[in-house]
Amino acid sequence: MSSQRTGAIQFYDQHPEPVDFYSEVITGLKQEQKRIPPKFFYDETGSKLFDQICELPEYYPTRTEMALLRQHADEIAALIGEECLLIEPGSGSSQKVRLLLDALMPRAYIPMDISRRYLFDVAQQLADEYHWLDVHATCVDFTAKMELQYCPEDVHKVAFFPGSSIGNFEPEDAGTFLANIAEMVGKGGGLLIGVDLKKSADTLNQAYNDKQSVTAEFNLNLLNRINRELDGNFDIDSFEHRAFYNSRLGRIEMHLLSKRDQIITVGEQSICMTNGETIHTENSYKYSVEEFSALASQAGLAQISVWIDEQQLFSLHYYQVRE
Ligand code: AVI
Repeated sequence: MSSQRTGAIQFYDQHPEPVDFYSEVITGLKQEQKRIPPKFFYDETGSKLFDQICELPEYYPTRTEMALLRQHADEIAALIGEECLLIEPGSGSSQKVRLLLDALMPRAYIPMDISRRYLFDVAQQLADEYHWLDVHATCVDFTAKMELQYCPEDVHKVAFFPGSSIGNFEPEDAGTFLANIAEMVGKGGGLLIGVDLKKSADTLNQAYNDKQSVTAEFNLNLLNRINRELDGNFDIDSFEHRAFYNSRLGRIEMHLLSKRDQIITVGEQSICMTNGETIHTENSYKYSVEEFSALASQAGLAQISVWIDEQQLFSLHYYQVRE
């Protein structure tokens, strides 16, 4: 592990294991239900498409969560108290934290991300914008155990995990992640987390099947990315975006459906697909407030407060690790 002083920010590099895109894709495509993990959506094009998704009229989570953060920032700050250590695993563009910083006035902000260059640039930009803010950026794989390198004694630690990204974890992995957070922030520490709510299948299906087909493009970009980066020969036109709410499992499933029998090559490997067969690319779990609180409780987190919009689309929860 190394650290270096970089002007207004401190940067810690925990040298996360680089992800092996090729072997994860091949392993996934050799399973009976073919699958590719959703983390591979986010190359440059995929990240831009995701930003566009967040602006779509059908995709309610982003604007609803941002409105909740804006509306309740003072209340949240009062609950958390001043001078906390604010930690954001998977911080990405650190957009949503901006809605809290002025109200919260944390002692320091610790963005954590696996994408080294992006993390550095975003941290630098934040430090430029918020002159009073200490930024301790940490390059780490937040899906593994997280370790705080900057950890002053007796400071209230609070994790921030917005965006309903928790919905992209399988429930068992979500439980493990919540337990890791609880361990990182310690007894009495907090977690502010955005969770998408269960609702009518219609509203959910529309959110993942937008009229402008941006979500379809986002899903299909995965095949383009494999073609570009892994020497694949997917014929994009012979695949179709499929997204539907699986009410039994409480999740939106995204798939890429093959429109014909075909043989695809990726590098040295050949993969056969039949007409109608799918590659499962994402699950997005939806929770009731009670379901999510039960999951959090098993991880040692006690619910302190929940904020929900008027239409009951999205929830923002504040938990504290039980003493
Ligand atoms: C990042 N994540 C919370 C989004 C979701 O809603 O599960 C990803 C997404 N997939 C399609 N649209 C948005």
